[in-house]
Amino acid sequence: MPGENGANSILPRVMDYMQECKALLPVDMVIYLKGKIMNRPKTKILVDGGDPQETIRIRDLLGYVDGQTTNPSLVANNPGIKELLASGHKLSRPEQMDEYRKIVEAISPLVGDAGVSVEVFSDLKTTAEEMLAQAREMYGWASNAYIKYPCTAEGLRAAQASVELGMRINVTLCFSQQQAAAVYAATRGSRTPVYVSLFVGRLDDIGHNGLDLVKNVKRMFASGDGHALVLAASLRTLDHLLCCFHEGAELATIPAKVLDLWVKKGSPLPGEGFECKATGRPIPFEQLSLERSWETFDIAHELTQKGLEKFVADYRKTLE
Ligand code: G3P
Repeated sequence: MPGENGANSILPRVMDYMQECKALLPVDMVIYLKGKIMNRPKTKILVDGGDPQETIRIRDLLGYVDGQTTNPSLVANNPGIKELLASGHKLSRPEQMDEYRKIVEAISPLVGDAGVSVEVFSDLKTTAEEMLAQAREMYGWASNAYIKYPCTAEGLRAAQASVELGMRINVTLCFSQQQAAAVYAATRGSRTPVYVSLFVGRLDDIGHNGLDLVKNVKRMFASGDGHALVLAASLRTLDHLLCCFHEGAELATIPAKVLDLWVKKGSPLPGEGFECKATGRPIPFEQLSLERSWETFDIAHELTQKGLEKFVADYRKTLE
């Protein structure tokens, strides 16, 4: 099956070797190895979570994990932090940072070249300078850290300053093509790929077809310089995942339970004739020039604001 499913050139030889060994290996082992080697999508697989034990489990299940994304809600859900809170202990801000650092340090060596995304704590009043100060500290937590900023004006100012400093970044809570265009424009010239996190499931929640955003941003970025990559986030179902593979999202961040389901179904990839199932109102493609400056795009989105409020609320729950 040379070349199947995006396999690279060494795989046909590996498969030939496995065919030769078939008589010697238990059939289950052949299927297992074939699954691990052949069913690796071109889309990088990131674990959407805040628990290193879960990352280890998924890495063992898939045989690899390309990266991980964390955020304040996921960190608040870390079993160790939940245990602390259940025992009545609340964290001071330095303790909270310290716990987050330990989580990131534990995840960092478990993942591949898509790195571990670490989110700054911000609300609607946090300035770019305040975000940048946190970013400088967090960036030192792991050699493969990506700093996550919210897709707000202050977040984009911080993102712009960060790429000038050579930091790897991920702009989160993106819900529109205008926001994605603004991220592209604010980070032009970045020496490393910039992740643009598009929240599919939360658009579905308000009756839109969230997967259209992935499709539209991929189409828009096709005329760009390649520095900004689509990271499909807020994925809740197997259909979401397969559709992101189909649309060619460069990265997808996925909760462990969806990855469990994917593996249970045999780690399928979208084959010939695959079509994404439309759910909700279509999101039309907008013709936007990527040459514009980022301030000219309309980056306001109610879900960005709500998303930030949710992160702040979850983060505050852990604090004394
Ligand atoms: O990576 C973003 C993700 O954690 C948000 O997912 O399901 O809360 O919309 P969800």
